[in-house]
Amino acid sequence: MVKDLVKVYRIGTLEIQALRGLSMKVEEGEMVAIIGPSGSGKTTLLNILGGLDRATAGYVKVFDTEVTSLTPDELVEYRRRMVGHIFQTMNLIPTLTAAENIELPMIALGVPKSKRVRRVEELINIVGLRERRNHKPGELSGGEQQRVAIAAALANDPPLILADEPTGELDTATARLVVDYLSRANRELGKTVIMVTHDPAVARAAGRILRIQDGIIRADLEPLWPELATTTYADILRMRIDEVERQLVELEDELRRGELTGEQYVERQMALKRALSVFKEELHRFGMVH
Ligand SMILES: Nc1ncnc2c1ncn2[C@@H]1O[C@H](COP(=O)(O)OP(=O)(O)OP(=O)(O)O)[C@@H](O)[C@H]1O
Ligand SMILES: [Mg+2]
Repeated sequence: MVKDLVKVYRIGTLEIQALRGLSMKVEEGEMVAIIGPSGSGKTTLLNILGGLDRATAGYVKVFDTEVTSLTPDELVEYRRRMVGHIFQTMNLIPTLTAAENIELPMIALGVPKSKRVRRVEELINIVGLRERRNHKPGELSGGEQQRVAIAAALANDPPLILADEPTGELDTATARLVVDYLSRANRELGKTVIMVTHDPAVARAAGRILRIQDGIIRADLEPLWPELATTTYADILRMRIDEVERQLVELEDELRRGELTGEQYVERQMALKRALSVFKEELHRFGMVH
Protein backbone atom coordinates (compact mmCIF):
# COMPACT_ATOMS: atom_id res chain seq x y z
CA MET A 1 0.00 0.00 0.00
CA VAL A 2 2.80 2.43 0.93
CA LYS A 3 6.28 1.90 -0.47
CA ASP A 4 9.51 3.81 0.14
CA LEU A 5 7.63 6.97 0.97
CA VAL A 6 9.74 10.09 1.33
CA LYS A 7 8.54 13.51 2.33
CA VAL A 8 10.88 16.46 2.54
CA TYR A 9 9.64 19.83 3.69
CA ARG A 10 11.64 22.84 2.61
CA ILE A 11 11.53 26.06 4.56
CA GLY A 12 13.90 28.45 2.84
CA THR A 13 17.19 26.59 2.72
CA LEU A 14 16.24 24.29 5.59
CA GLU A 15 15.26 20.73 4.67
CA ILE A 16 13.19 18.59 6.99
CA GLN A 17 12.91 14.89 6.19
CA ALA A 18 9.52 14.03 7.67
CA LEU A 19 9.34 10.58 6.05
CA ARG A 20 12.47 8.64 5.15
CA GLY A 21 11.53 5.71 2.97
CA LEU A 22 8.51 4.49 4.90
CA SER A 23 6.78 1.30 3.76
CA MET A 24 3.70 -0.38 5.14
CA LYS A 25 0.79 -2.50 4.10
CA VAL A 26 -2.72 -2.27 5.45
CA GLU A 27 -5.29 -4.79 4.30
CA GLU A 28 -8.81 -3.82 3.28
CA GLY A 29 -11.09 -3.91 6.31
CA GLU A 30 -8.25 -3.69 8.82
CA MET A 31 -8.07 -1.31 11.76
CA VAL A 32 -4.52 -0.17 12.38
CA ALA A 33 -3.12 2.16 15.00
CA ILE A 34 -0.01 4.25 14.35
CA ILE A 35 1.97 5.30 17.37
CA GLY A 36 5.23 7.20 17.63
CA PRO A 37 6.88 10.24 19.17
CA SER A 38 5.95 13.80 18.36
CA GLY A 39 7.46 14.90 15.05
CA SER A 40 7.99 11.33 13.83
CA GLY A 41 5.89 11.90 10.71
CA LYS A 42 2.47 10.49 11.69
CA THR A 43 0.39 13.43 10.50
CA THR A 44 2.52 13.76 7.38
CA LEU A 45 1.83 10.10 6.53
CA LEU A 46 -1.91 10.49 7.11
CA ASN A 47 -2.07 13.65 5.01
CA ILE A 48 -0.35 11.91 2.10
CA LEU A 49 -2.65 8.88 2.45
CA GLY A 50 -5.60 11.24 2.50
CA GLY A 51 -4.49 13.13 -0.61
CA LEU A 52 -4.00 16.40 1.26
CA ASP A 53 -0.28 16.48 0.75
CA ARG A 54 2.02 15.11 -1.92
CA ALA A 55 4.92 12.74 -1.39
CA THR A 56 8.39 13.85 -2.43
CA ALA A 57 9.14 10.29 -3.57
CA GLY A 58 7.72 6.82 -3.20
CA TYR A 59 4.48 5.06 -3.99
CA VAL A 60 1.06 5.04 -2.36
CA LYS A 61 -1.78 2.82 -3.49
CA VAL A 62 -5.13 2.90 -1.72
CA PHE A 63 -7.51 0.14 -2.82
CA ASP A 64 -7.13 0.37 -6.61
CA THR A 65 -6.06 4.00 -6.74
CA GLU A 66 -2.44 4.95 -7.26
CA VAL A 67 -2.60 8.09 -5.16
CA THR A 68 0.94 9.21 -5.95
CA SER A 69 0.19 9.54 -9.67
CA LEU A 70 -3.12 11.43 -9.49
CA THR A 71 -3.52 14.87 -11.04
CA PRO A 72 -4.61 17.68 -8.68
CA ASP A 73 -8.23 17.38 -9.88
CA GLU A 74 -8.23 13.62 -9.46
CA LEU A 75 -6.80 14.08 -5.99
CA VAL A 76 -9.76 16.28 -5.00
CA GLU A 77 -12.14 13.62 -6.28
CA TYR A 78 -10.18 10.90 -4.45
CA ARG A 79 -10.42 12.82 -1.18
CA ARG A 80 -14.15 13.32 -1.46
CA ARG A 81 -15.08 9.77 -2.39
CA MET A 82 -12.49 7.54 -0.84
CA VAL A 83 -11.41 9.20 2.39
CA GLY A 84 -13.03 10.26 5.64
CA HIS A 85 -10.48 12.32 7.54
CA ILE A 86 -10.67 13.16 11.23
CA PHE A 87 -8.02 15.69 12.11
CA GLN A 88 -5.67 16.19 15.01
CA THR A 89 -7.08 19.64 15.62
CA MET A 90 -10.81 19.50 15.23
CA ASN A 91 -11.88 20.83 11.92
CA LEU A 92 -15.59 21.46 12.37
CA ILE A 93 -16.94 24.76 11.08
CA PRO A 94 -17.77 26.76 14.23
CA THR A 95 -20.70 28.66 12.70
CA LEU A 96 -22.49 25.53 11.48
CA THR A 97 -24.59 23.16 13.59
CA ALA A 98 -23.65 19.53 14.16
CA ALA A 99 -26.10 18.45 11.44
CA GLU A 100 -24.77 21.03 8.98
CA ASN A 101 -21.18 20.00 9.63
CA ILE A 102 -22.13 16.42 8.85
CA GLU A 103 -23.90 17.52 5.67
CA LEU A 104 -20.94 19.50 4.34
CA PRO A 105 -18.90 16.68 2.72
CA MET A 106 -22.03 15.60 0.83
CA ILE A 107 -22.55 19.12 -0.52
CA ALA A 108 -18.94 19.04 -1.74
CA LEU A 109 -19.72 15.82 -3.61
CA GLY A 110 -22.94 17.20 -5.11
CA VAL A 111 -25.32 14.83 -3.33
CA PRO A 112 -28.97 15.97 -3.80
CA LYS A 113 -30.64 17.69 -0.84
CA SER A 114 -33.25 15.00 -0.11
CA LYS A 115 -30.62 12.32 0.06
CA ARG A 116 -28.42 14.51 2.25
CA VAL A 117 -31.23 15.07 4.73
CA ARG A 118 -31.87 11.33 5.04
CA ARG A 119 -28.19 10.57 5.42
CA VAL A 120 -27.67 13.25 8.10
CA GLU A 121 -30.50 11.68 10.14
CA GLU A 122 -28.92 8.26 9.80
CA LEU A 123 -25.45 9.51 10.80
CA ILE A 124 -26.72 11.56 13.74
CA ASN A 125 -28.28 8.37 15.06
CA ILE A 126 -25.17 6.29 14.45
CA VAL A 127 -23.09 8.59 16.64
CA GLY A 128 -25.87 9.07 19.19
CA LEU A 129 -26.25 12.85 18.87
CA ARG A 130 -29.95 13.25 18.09
CA GLU A 131 -30.46 15.77 20.90
CA ARG A 132 -27.40 17.75 19.88
CA ARG A 133 -28.12 18.07 16.17
CA ASN A 134 -28.72 21.84 16.26
CA HIS A 135 -25.80 22.64 18.54
CA LYS A 136 -22.76 24.43 17.18
CA PRO A 137 -19.33 22.94 17.91
CA GLY A 138 -18.73 25.52 20.67
CA GLU A 139 -21.84 24.22 22.43
CA LEU A 140 -20.67 20.61 22.38
CA SER A 141 -18.22 18.72 24.58
CA GLY A 142 -14.92 17.56 23.10
CA GLY A 143 -16.18 13.98 22.80
CA GLU A 144 -19.39 15.12 21.11
CA GLN A 145 -17.39 17.24 18.67
CA GLN A 146 -15.28 14.23 17.76
CA ARG A 147 -18.41 12.17 17.21
CA VAL A 148 -19.66 14.88 14.82
CA ALA A 149 -16.27 14.69 13.07
CA ILE A 150 -16.64 10.90 12.78
CA ALA A 151 -20.16 11.24 11.36
CA ALA A 152 -18.87 13.82 8.85
CA ALA A 153 -16.03 11.48 7.90
CA LEU A 154 -18.55 8.69 7.26
CA ALA A 155 -20.98 10.93 5.34
CA ASN A 156 -19.96 9.97 1.81
CA ASP A 157 -19.48 6.35 2.83
CA PRO A 158 -15.74 6.32 2.01
CA PRO A 159 -13.92 3.00 2.33
CA LEU A 160 -10.96 4.56 4.16
CA ILE A 161 -11.16 6.40 7.49
CA LEU A 162 -8.09 8.33 8.66
CA ALA A 163 -8.10 9.59 12.24
CA ASP A 164 -5.27 11.74 13.57
CA GLU A 165 -5.26 11.69 17.38
CA PRO A 166 -9.06 11.49 17.52
CA THR A 167 -8.92 11.21 21.30
CA GLY A 168 -6.08 13.63 21.92
CA GLU A 169 -7.82 16.04 24.25
CA LEU A 170 -10.39 13.71 25.76
CA ASP A 171 -10.49 12.03 29.16
CA THR A 172 -10.08 8.27 29.16
CA ALA A 173 -13.74 7.32 29.34
CA THR A 174 -14.74 9.72 26.55
CA ALA A 175 -11.74 8.61 24.49
CA ARG A 176 -12.95 5.02 24.87
CA LEU A 177 -16.38 5.97 23.59
CA VAL A 178 -14.97 7.81 20.56
CA VAL A 179 -12.68 4.89 19.71
CA ASP A 180 -15.63 2.57 20.03
CA TYR A 181 -17.38 4.45 17.22
CA LEU A 182 -14.29 4.03 15.06
CA SER A 183 -14.16 0.33 15.93
CA ARG A 184 -17.78 -0.01 14.94
CA ALA A 185 -17.16 1.78 11.65
CA ASN A 186 -14.48 -0.84 11.11
CA ARG A 187 -16.38 -3.92 12.28
CA GLU A 188 -19.94 -3.13 11.30
CA LEU A 189 -19.47 -0.93 8.25
CA GLY A 190 -16.32 -2.65 7.00
CA LYS A 191 -14.28 0.55 6.85
CA THR A 192 -10.51 0.38 6.74
CA VAL A 193 -9.41 2.53 9.68
CA ILE A 194 -5.96 4.04 10.18
CA MET A 195 -5.73 5.87 13.47
CA VAL A 196 -2.84 7.84 14.93
CA THR A 197 -2.68 7.91 18.70
CA HIS A 198 -0.20 8.44 21.52
CA ASP A 199 -2.40 6.52 23.93
CA PRO A 200 -1.57 2.80 24.28
CA ALA A 201 -5.07 2.05 25.59
CA VAL A 202 -6.54 3.57 22.43
CA ALA A 203 -4.01 1.77 20.22
CA ARG A 204 -5.01 -1.58 21.72
CA ALA A 205 -8.46 -1.19 20.17
CA ALA A 206 -6.82 -1.72 16.77
CA GLY A 207 -6.03 -5.11 15.29
CA ARG A 208 -2.45 -4.09 14.61
CA ILE A 209 -0.12 -1.41 15.92
CA LEU A 210 2.56 0.22 13.78
CA ARG A 211 5.26 2.18 15.53
CA ILE A 212 6.81 4.99 13.54
CA GLN A 213 10.00 6.73 14.52
CA ASP A 214 12.08 9.26 12.57
CA GLY A 215 9.86 8.85 9.53
CA ILE A 216 9.99 5.07 9.17
CA ILE A 217 8.06 2.14 10.61
CA ARG A 218 10.09 0.62 13.44
CA ALA A 219 7.77 -2.08 14.62
CA ASP A 220 4.72 -3.95 13.47
CA LEU A 221 2.95 -5.52 16.39
CA GLU A 222 0.69 -8.41 15.52
CA PRO A 223 -2.61 -8.69 17.33
CA LEU A 224 -2.42 -10.99 20.32
CA TRP A 225 -5.60 -12.71 19.26
CA PRO A 226 -6.44 -13.14 15.60
CA GLU A 227 -10.16 -13.28 16.41
CA LEU A 228 -9.88 -9.70 17.63
CA ALA A 229 -11.92 -8.26 14.80
CA THR A 230 -15.08 -10.14 15.76
CA THR A 231 -14.85 -9.78 19.51
CA THR A 232 -15.83 -6.79 21.59
CA TYR A 233 -13.37 -4.65 23.46
CA ALA A 234 -14.61 -6.05 26.77
CA ASP A 235 -14.00 -9.60 25.48
CA ILE A 236 -10.46 -8.67 24.54
CA LEU A 237 -9.87 -7.20 27.97
CA ARG A 238 -11.20 -10.34 29.63
CA MET A 239 -8.94 -12.48 27.45
CA ARG A 240 -5.94 -10.37 28.36
CA ILE A 241 -6.79 -10.61 32.04
CA ASP A 242 -7.03 -14.42 31.75
CA GLU A 243 -3.74 -14.51 29.89
CA VAL A 244 -1.93 -12.41 32.51
CA GLU A 245 -3.40 -14.47 35.35
CA ARG A 246 -2.16 -17.59 33.61
CA GLN A 247 1.30 -16.04 33.30
CA LEU A 248 1.30 -15.25 37.01
CA VAL A 249 0.63 -18.90 37.85
CA GLU A 250 3.34 -19.99 35.42
CA LEU A 251 5.76 -17.55 37.00
CA GLU A 252 5.23 -19.13 40.39
CA ASP A 253 5.88 -22.55 38.89
CA GLU A 254 9.12 -21.29 37.40
CA LEU A 255 10.20 -19.93 40.76
CA ARG A 256 9.36 -23.22 42.43
CA ARG A 257 11.38 -25.10 39.82
CA GLY A 258 14.29 -22.79 40.59
CA GLU A 259 14.35 -21.32 37.09
CA LEU A 260 14.21 -17.76 38.41
CA THR A 261 16.04 -15.81 41.05
CA GLY A 262 13.89 -14.17 43.69
CA GLU A 263 14.72 -10.82 42.21
CA GLN A 264 13.65 -11.84 38.70
CA TYR A 265 10.46 -13.27 40.10
CA VAL A 266 9.55 -10.09 41.97
CA GLU A 267 10.33 -7.92 38.98
CA ARG A 268 8.25 -9.97 36.55
CA GLN A 269 5.45 -10.43 39.02
CA MET A 270 5.24 -6.69 39.54
CA ALA A 271 5.12 -6.04 35.80
CA LEU A 272 2.35 -8.61 35.35
CA LYS A 273 0.37 -7.24 38.26
CA ARG A 274 0.66 -3.76 36.85
CA ALA A 275 -0.65 -4.98 33.51
CA LEU A 276 -3.45 -6.82 35.28
CA SER A 277 -4.59 -3.72 37.16
CA VAL A 278 -4.52 -1.65 33.95
CA PHE A 279 -6.72 -4.20 32.15
CA LYS A 280 -9.08 -4.52 35.11
CA GLU A 281 -9.38 -0.76 35.44
CA GLU A 282 -10.04 -0.49 31.74
CA LEU A 283 -12.70 -3.18 31.90
CA HIS A 284 -14.34 -1.44 34.83
CA ARG A 285 -14.28 1.87 32.98
CA PHE A 286 -15.69 0.24 29.88
CA GLY A 287 -18.48 -1.22 31.95
CA MET A 288 -19.37 2.23 33.17
CA VAL A 289 -19.39 3.78 29.72
CA HIS A 290 -21.73 1.17 28.29
N1 LIG B 1 4.16 21.97 6.60
C1 LIG B 1 5.34 21.68 7.15
N2 LIG B 1 6.44 22.40 6.83
C2 LIG B 1 7.64 22.10 7.33
N3 LIG B 1 7.88 21.10 8.20
C3 LIG B 1 6.84 20.35 8.55
C4 LIG B 1 5.52 20.60 8.06
N4 LIG B 1 4.68 19.68 8.60
C5 LIG B 1 5.44 18.92 9.40
N5 LIG B 1 6.72 19.30 9.39
C6 LIG B 1 7.86 18.65 10.10
O1 LIG B 1 7.89 17.29 9.72
C7 LIG B 1 8.14 16.45 10.84
C8 LIG B 1 7.00 15.47 11.03
O2 LIG B 1 5.81 16.17 11.41
P1 LIG B 1 4.42 15.49 11.68
O3 LIG B 1 3.42 16.57 11.86
O4 LIG B 1 4.14 14.50 10.62
O5 LIG B 1 4.69 14.76 13.06
P2 LIG B 1 3.71 13.93 14.02
O6 LIG B 1 4.28 12.59 14.15
O7 LIG B 1 2.33 14.04 13.51
O8 LIG B 1 3.86 14.71 15.40
P3 LIG B 1 2.76 14.98 16.56
O9 LIG B 1 2.67 13.73 17.35
O10 LIG B 1 3.39 16.09 17.36
O11 LIG B 1 1.49 15.39 15.91
C9 LIG B 1 8.34 17.39 12.02
O12 LIG B 1 9.72 17.59 12.18
C10 LIG B 1 7.66 18.67 11.59
O13 LIG B 1 8.28 19.77 12.19
MG1 LIG C 1 0.63 14.91 14.25
